[in-house]
Amino acid sequence: MSAVIEVDGLTKSFGDVQAVNGVSFTVERGELLGFLGPNGAGKTTTINMLTGLARPDAGTISIAGIDCTRNPKAAQHLIGVVPDESNLYPELTGFGNLCFCGALYGMSRKDREERARELLALFSLAEAADRKFAGYSRGMKRKLTIAAGIIHRPEILFLDEPTTGIDVASARQLRQLVEGLHREGTTIFLTTHYIEEAERLCERIAFIVRGRIVRIESVAELMQPVQDRHAVLVSVAEPDPALAEKLAPACPDCEITAAGPAQVRVESAGPISVAPLVRFLDDLGFDVVEARKMHPSLEDVFVRITGIEADAMRKEREKPGGGKVDAA
Ligand SMILES: Nc1ncnc2c1ncn2[C@@H]1O[C@H](COP(=O)(O)OP(=O)(O)O)[C@@H](O)[C@H]1O
Ligand SMILES: [Mg+2]
Repeated sequence: MSAVIEVDGLTKSFGDVQAVNGVSFTVERGELLGFLGPNGAGKTTTINMLTGLARPDAGTISIAGIDCTRNPKAAQHLIGVVPDESNLYPELTGFGNLCFCGALYGMSRKDREERARELLALFSLAEAADRKFAGYSRGMKRKLTIAAGIIHRPEILFLDEPTTGIDVASARQLRQLVEGLHREGTTIFLTTHYIEEAERLCERIAFIVRGRIVRIESVAELMQPVQDRHAVLVSVAEPDPALAEKLAPACPDCEITAAGPAQVRVESAGPISVAPLVRFLDDLGFDVVEARKMHPSLEDVFVRITGIEADAMRKEREKPGGGKVDAA
């Protein structure tokens, strides 16, 4: 494999705000790399610099061997860009928008019309092809924006928060489409603040916090430290600040931490027997309402490395109009 995107020391500030601060990474040909981080981490600013929409203060960008630092538009024909907000024309139909984008890339009329039909079918938008974009739902708008980004069959695709703010079914369909493009060999750089989405889609993930990459590794490498950890989440009916302390004697080899006012997380390097824990609490007079074995997840890794509680990231999806990742 060879690096198709090479970024070194990328930096940009807006006034006092250091949006991106010395970011360096490479993306291999055919790879799917994700930038995972909370709102305001610098994801969009990074994508904007990579795609020629914003000028870096410092650093270098090379795409397919082309120096994009000096000439930001030189790699335009190789890349597709899907911004977080749609850049399409509300007054044009779905079909009209796709054909318009194809024309911008210099596609022949026949080629762009065929490709537009093909993409409308692929994205389940064929029936809405002749309706105005303005009347599309959020999920339909995002799908058409992605279709527009790949109309010219780019080798490299940049996706900024592809599933944020859309319904669960559309988000699932979009993830499948992204997986399909990846399988066909497209190099993909995507940003997301959904931990589960990054875990599911990406081969390698960069954790980005306050403009810096704090860790960049394959999902397998990131998961390594938690892979062999066992964890049980125990909930009781009444809150008790000393719950973890009281449970400690039941499992001396375990690490027991409060996970909520009436909840503790029990972790161990070996398997944990749930029944003795429940009996122990029961004997102390607690009413145990749930004891659940947890599978190690990227969320645990993310919290350990960034110190950002997953709940804080999750809140972003609960904003009005915020998207939601389904469990499937
Ligand atoms: N055009 C801009 N003017 C001023 N500040 C900006 C601008 N764009 C982004 N920022 C700031 O830069 C930081 C990074 O923003 P952004 O790259 O949009 O983050 P993300 O996409 O990860 O949510 C934030 O603090 C944001 O407020
Ligand atoms: Mg953003």
